[in-house]
Amino acid sequence: MSRLTPDQLRSARWFAPDDLRSFGHRSRAKQMGYAREDFTGKPVIGILNTWSDLNTCHTHFRQRADEVKRGVWQAGGFPLEVPIMSLSETYMKPTSMYYRNLVALEVEETLRCYPLDGAVLMGGCDKTVPALIMGATSMNLPSIFLPAGPMMKGCWHGETLGSGSDVWKYWAERQAGNFCEDSWNELEDGIARSPGTCMTMGTASTMSAIAETLGLCLPGACSIPAVHSAHQRLATACGRRIVDLVWENVRPRDLLTEEAFQNAIVADMALGGSTNAIVHLIAMAGRAGIKLPLERFDEISRRIKVLANLRPCGEYLMEDFHDAGGLPALLEQIRRDLHLDCLTVSGQTLGENISGAKVYNPEVIRPPDRPVGKAGGTFILKGNLCPDGAVIKPTAAEAHLMKHRGLAAVFEDYADLKKRIDDPALGLTADHIIVLKNAGPIGAPGIPEWGMLPIPKYLLQQGVRDMIRISDARMSGTSYGACVLHVAPESAVGGPLAFVQSGDWIELDVEGRRLHLEVDDAELERRRADWVPPAAKFTRGYGRLYAEEITQANEGCDFRFLHHGQDAPEPDIY
Ligand code: FES
Repeated sequence: MSRLTPDQLRSARWFAPDDLRSFGHRSRAKQMGYAREDFTGKPVIGILNTWSDLNTCHTHFRQRADEVKRGVWQAGGFPLEVPIMSLSETYMKPTSMYYRNLVALEVEETLRCYPLDGAVLMGGCDKTVPALIMGATSMNLPSIFLPAGPMMKGCWHGETLGSGSDVWKYWAERQAGNFCEDSWNELEDGIARSPGTCMTMGTASTMSAIAETLGLCLPGACSIPAVHSAHQRLATACGRRIVDLVWENVRPRDLLTEEAFQNAIVADMALGGSTNAIVHLIAMAGRAGIKLPLERFDEISRRIKVLANLRPCGEYLMEDFHDAGGLPALLEQIRRDLHLDCLTVSGQTLGENISGAKVYNPEVIRPPDRPVGKAGGTFILKGNLCPDGAVIKPTAAEAHLMKHRGLAAVFEDYADLKKRIDDPALGLTADHIIVLKNAGPIGAPGIPEWGMLPIPKYLLQQGVRDMIRISDARMSGTSYGACVLHVAPESAVGGPLAFVQSGDWIELDVEGRRLHLEVDDAELERRRADWVPPAAKFTRGYGRLYAEEITQANEGCDFRFLHHGQDAPEPDIY
């Protein structure tokens, strides 16, 4: 492998020339107290930090950035910390997904316009992971991903609690009248006990594991708990390694090959990963110029079984997964299903990274002959209700609902759902199918995590805990239930979901991967002719750009003008 020389560094364009402009660049670096030898002839490393007081999962990132800097200095680089908009799953409205592409664009332009040779991408809370990777892939500068790590396990009355999953569970019990207010308040104290991301196999854990499988993290990084001292050591190791990656000129698109994405889908299925991973993987692959059709996910889900016994599909949490051997141990179990020669940021191949990794607890990481689920975590559905596909996670749903025919109970949007769902006059039974429209990329907007639609309170009181629910929304990776998600095309652009009426029969056949609306084509055409598209929600600003450029769920919900694998051009420096 040929290494760069100092004069070949990208940052040399800013700092090396003997001209007026470069004088300014050097003198202003000195303004910060650095000497010329601190920053010239060395890889300049941008530490892209998504720390924010508004992102509760990233509160340890200020300290971690210092630990990354330590590693960069040790390896002979020049570290500079750069704030990047943080996508807080907890607080952002309408949904953090609405801003994923904005952050990806910010990352791409930040890397483009500054004198940076490489980047450490600090993320973890759900959409920060794909956003950072998408931007870095488009700019294609050497990059390494530092996952925030999962938070400590939750605890309430001696019982282990998992983020999200147990909140939904106990909320249903509260709605059913089985859980008092005091207990509910105590639960609030115990569900999130440290910095770090949701510690179930939700979207954050799934996407960090995918980043590691793609080769963008150091081996074993994705499961290290945020408050574990190993996480501090990981941060410093990332700082050291990125300097070498710059000298070795290893760029994201050298790693993000078709085979690497194939590996990522295999890992996702074996983990029982979040349904959100599908949308993000398609978007990330698009930035590397790779198309991932939904059929690819379905083909892999048919042969890769869920081995990670983690909530919401299973019992355990990320800390248990880490202690059981983490991702390298899981991947070693399915070695023969992986492209082992894919290069990673460690400088070794994926096969070398996982070679010999041991499972220390076979209850948490099951062997292939004793899987948690008989198939992969996520199935793709097709049918006249979702011509461009839909997604379901059967391992997190009640098995008896996986083949079901029921009457539709339709809600026009989320406000309508909230207003009427608990009205006993609707007369819903456990056999009904709840349908929500206008919750997709454009309709909501931002394809929010509304897809785990609420079960009517009076049915919860009767003991019902799962029903078929269909929408063009997503759902949280920590959610569960027989929820059909990401229906495409969405209702707001005239997908067939827009024409479903209460009282229509719908058939779901998960084994047959089929979602069928029992309304004939002529009647559907009549309904289409009467349909009035919803009014545009934004006429200016980011909302307008979003509405004009967003693609559908099966295309990754990226912006059309960003979703391709062309290099972002270098800036002129005058
Ligand atoms: Fe940040 Fe779940 S809220 S990862």
